[in-house]
Amino acid sequence: MPATVAVGTQFGDEGKGKIIDFLADRADVVVRFQGGANAGHTVQVGDELYAFHLLPSGVLRKRTMNVIGNGVVIEPAQLLKEIEETRSRGHPVKNLRISDRAHVVMPYHKTLDGLEETLKGNLSAGTTLRGIGPAFEDKVGRFGIRMCDLIDPDVLRAKLDKIVPIKQRMIEAYGGAERLDAQALFTEHAAYGERLAPYVDDTSVWLDAALKGGKRVLFEGAQGTHLCIDHGVYPFGTSSNCVAGAATIGAGVGPQYLTDVLGVAKGFTSRVGAGPFPTELEGPVAEHLRERGGGEYGTTTRRPRRVGWIDLVMLRMAVRVNGLTGLAVTKLDVLGGLERVRACVRYRSDGESIKEFPASMRILSECGPVYREFKGWPDLSEAEWIEIAKKGRRALPEATRKYLGFIESTLRIPVRIVSVGRSRAATMGR
Ligand code: IMP
Ligand code: MG
Repeated sequence: MPATVAVGTQFGDEGKGKIIDFLADRADVVVRFQGGANAGHTVQVGDELYAFHLLPSGVLRKRTMNVIGNGVVIEPAQLLKEIEETRSRGHPVKNLRISDRAHVVMPYHKTLDGLEETLKGNLSAGTTLRGIGPAFEDKVGRFGIRMCDLIDPDVLRAKLDKIVPIKQRMIEAYGGAERLDAQALFTEHAAYGERLAPYVDDTSVWLDAALKGGKRVLFEGAQGTHLCIDHGVYPFGTSSNCVAGAATIGAGVGPQYLTDVLGVAKGFTSRVGAGPFPTELEGPVAEHLRERGGGEYGTTTRRPRRVGWIDLVMLRMAVRVNGLTGLAVTKLDVLGGLERVRACVRYRSDGESIKEFPASMRILSECGPVYREFKGWPDLSEAEWIEIAKKGRRALPEATRKYLGFIESTLRIPVRIVSVGRSRAATMGR
């Protein structure tokens, strides 16, 4: 703080939701700046579990304002559903603002997402089918509908009249059978617009004033560095920029405010979707990582996640492209009970040593991991991990401390937060 960006350093699902919720305690504002309902941020409060897709993770804290920035693509029905569900669980959701420049995900984007995925064959990323790619395609192609249009019925109708026939031709060209109905789309979406209008605002103006007034702002990244459209495993990532720099564009604030960049890394690696994954594991260790804690299923799609050892080649790149000033390491409890734990320090391909994460998916798919091996630590109960968290990092098992120390010295970056369980109490650092 004053302005901190928290981003994923791997393939998403690093535990960002939990870390953001932890940091939100000291934040006045939490801002989402990219992605859409493809994200799944899990936050646990007491025994209650919340999974947010579009709502920023600070929404459960009454005195924290939550902003959905212009860089996010918003599926109105999904957002309204999340607001209603959160409300029905006792949180009023009065602390939300939505950028008038954010783009809207329309039903035809979801249709096209599915059709594109099928046509792409082995180039398919295994998307969440939330229409994210086609919505960003429309933004860049200038076929998009923005929140300021959604809440203005005349503009919405005029835009749909022009855009829907074009989308219909695309659906047909892609071999789809769906018939779009511009009138029905208008009626449905004008109603969403009316319900969302009270939240819509010029959030750049609002954020600028907040930052100038000394408010502490936390920018909440979605997905992760290696899913970034520019820096990720192209074409197997997502369609937005997931790195820290995107916070300024996706929220409409100047880069001078971003003083602190926290990278969130899981103690191992996981991903949902397709593409090369050098440290991927199969067999009993993979089962252990997937089943322990029961969390390694996609929050958005419920697909079993692919899992593997931590990859410091990936993380070294994340430190660089995000300009990380610190790291939060999560899910160390999940590694508990393994006899040995490994960390990939570089790759080997055709007898050659590779230290930097390659751009080419052909080269990446030929890379094998070179590991450093560590002694494992015990499988402790949640209560035992919380006891440790109360005492701080020095109370961690010696093997866990060694593992963290190795990550710090290899990446030359401090581990500032350590998470050893889902709950807020199972967190140490600041
Ligand atoms: P899309 O973002 O739905 O287009 O999906 C593109 C790729 O990114 C797919 O491989 C997804 O599984 C992956 N992906 C998208 N969002 C997330 C996320 O929040 N966590 C993990 N993986 C994601
Ligand atoms: Mg997730």
